[in-house]
Amino acid sequence: MSITHHPSENVFHLFSKEMSYVIQIVRGYPVHLHWGKRLRDDGNWSGMLQLAERASFSPNPVADDYRVSLDTLPQEYPQYGTSDFREPAYQVQLSDGTRITELSYRSHRIYAGKPKLEGLPAVYAEADGEAQTLELELADDYSGLTVTLLYTVFEERNFVTRSARLSLREGAPGLRIRRALSASVDFHDGDYECLYLTGAWARERHIERRRVAPGATRIESRRGASSHTMNPFMALVRPNADEDQGEAFGFSLVYSGNFLAQAEVEQFGMTRVSIGLNPFDFSWKLEAGETFQTPEAVLVYSAEGLGGMSRTYHRLYRTRLCRGVHRDRPRPILANNWEATYFDFNADKIESIAKAGAELGIELFVLDDGWFGKRDNDHSSLGDWVVDRKKLPNGLRDLAERVNKAGLQFGLWFEPEMVSPDSDLYRAHPDWCLHVPGRRRTEARHQLILDMSRQDVRDYLYGALSEIFSACPISYVKWDMNRNMSEIGSAALPEDRQLETAHRYMLGLYELLERITSSFPHILFESCSGGGGRFDPGMLYYMPQTWTSDDTDAVERLKIQYGTSIVYPVSAMGAHVSDVPNHQVHRVTSLTMRGDVAMSGNFGYELDLTKFSGEEKEIVKQQVAAYKELRGLIQTGDMYRLKSPFEGNETAWTFVSEDRREAAVFYFRTLAEPNPPLRRLKLRGLDPELAYRVNGSDDRIAGDRLMVYGWNIPPLQGDFASVVLRLQAE
Ligand code: DGJ
Repeated sequence: MSITHHPSENVFHLFSKEMSYVIQIVRGYPVHLHWGKRLRDDGNWSGMLQLAERASFSPNPVADDYRVSLDTLPQEYPQYGTSDFREPAYQVQLSDGTRITELSYRSHRIYAGKPKLEGLPAVYAEADGEAQTLELELADDYSGLTVTLLYTVFEERNFVTRSARLSLREGAPGLRIRRALSASVDFHDGDYECLYLTGAWARERHIERRRVAPGATRIESRRGASSHTMNPFMALVRPNADEDQGEAFGFSLVYSGNFLAQAEVEQFGMTRVSIGLNPFDFSWKLEAGETFQTPEAVLVYSAEGLGGMSRTYHRLYRTRLCRGVHRDRPRPILANNWEATYFDFNADKIESIAKAGAELGIELFVLDDGWFGKRDNDHSSLGDWVVDRKKLPNGLRDLAERVNKAGLQFGLWFEPEMVSPDSDLYRAHPDWCLHVPGRRRTEARHQLILDMSRQDVRDYLYGALSEIFSACPISYVKWDMNRNMSEIGSAALPEDRQLETAHRYMLGLYELLERITSSFPHILFESCSGGGGRFDPGMLYYMPQTWTSDDTDAVERLKIQYGTSIVYPVSAMGAHVSDVPNHQVHRVTSLTMRGDVAMSGNFGYELDLTKFSGEEKEIVKQQVAAYKELRGLIQTGDMYRLKSPFEGNETAWTFVSEDRREAAVFYFRTLAEPNPPLRRLKLRGLDPELAYRVNGSDDRIAGDRLMVYGWNIPPLQGDFASVVLRLQAE
């Protein structure tokens, strides 16, 4: 049991092993009492809520108690217009133009398991016994609006999932939802720092951390995708919190489109954190009898700093968000031809790369962009998913079989959501893209975006893709998406629903992904958006891995992968060794470091394998063999970040098996130093009682020594050096 209800105080206690989340119904309002360290449930929950009468600028909704003010009450799903002046969680506009509603508690339900969210990705319970759900029903009689707040907790894990369902009573006049966030939490004080992940194409998910202060820290996407620039995640952390200790409160949104996350410190120092669908350029018409389900927010609590928070997200997202047969399978080592050939290839070239890959032990070949239509550059053919017989005269099936014969599985690139104006698809259906009548259709990379809110578009894509998947032995698909939305409008929606387009696009995309991934469960899908432009939990629900960044430079990747690991598991991150000078930053790094960085993810190579020298081939063979031995540990172990690339010249992280008997430590030193100090690295996560065998040798070091005294880092030569330490308990 993870949820108790105490009727005398009308308190709901949601708890897991180390966390409590406590809600009290006060005068009909759902009030937030506590989220943090586990509280003992002795049945006495009285006297927790502090109230004080304030000046008349904090108005009073109840006549007999001037200490109650919505302006100061810590709430679970606040509204605007009835005297709370902080960020509201929802707002609707009634048919008479007014925007006032007043939700108050009606009923609740507590049950085993976790419900699916209609049409949306979400965390799931594998068995009803592992989770419990609370539904709090709130209603506004005047408008007929009901809001059901959903909370799920898992006994074994320190998080709570939240979402809201807005429904309109039969017979009520229709209304417009102007905002409907997924979660809002009022923290009692403002002694926090706010941490989030930001960047741009080729430098995604860099860590930003700053003190919250009166006013708001707001991150968001208005791009129609979760985006390279801001990830749908925010954490409040105590100023003393580091990797190992101190409190961290994570908010992650399971959604791939426009989002908002905000930390607002108000006049009395309380902090309100809100997360959900971005209300910007959004509204949704709700008719009588209809329901609107918000995306899900996953709120993780950690008393063990950022490391503890990340490990909770990693396990949860790896095992209860990702789905399908590939969820728990070792991920194949792949070779991708993008940076090897770009658009310039033919069947023989591809076969030669695959054969070279087979010799090195690589398991999967991925044919990237350029195999369809007349696509010799990025100016044409998106939408025409028919093989280019000039490049591949015997077709795709023949090529896939040649690759299979060489001993590798075959994978293929698609960019299904896009259309090139120079394509047969666009010529036949110019109204199938997002556009606004009478306005320019702004191109990016010479392409427009198909309107995924349309059933006919989705049916076309399902047909085109499934024909290829059925005809060819395809084991892997890279699902790319290379631009953000402009002129957002749908020819299939009436005028008064145009503001629904961006969200309907996401719902349509999710529907198509569900259809395709469940029809072809054997295919391993990897999501991509110019690298990591849609690296979010929503996409991970359908595709268990994502191409982390188009930036494959080993030094840049340290920051990108370190930042990504704040929320996302290593099993979700595609990481490849690419050529030097690097194609993005023109830096020359060692093959060893490139390999060690890429091994800390779903490993692969993205260069022309036929061009390796004999010496390079030997290094690559060793890397491939090492990864095969280590991937179980890397892909499913607990990750401990030891040194941050954002703080200096060294980076280190380690993967530790669940039973703590095995570990792999990765240490990187970016630039050589003259006459450097002797360095030790204090490890984490080991069993202090065990002795660990070092790198397969007869040397053994005690777990406590490795963690307390540390591991003596061996001397390293030159720039871009790295070393891997493997530990195995006897
Ligand atoms: C962007 C991706 O991130 C790259 O890996 C590659 O697939 C290109 N698109 C192909 O157009």
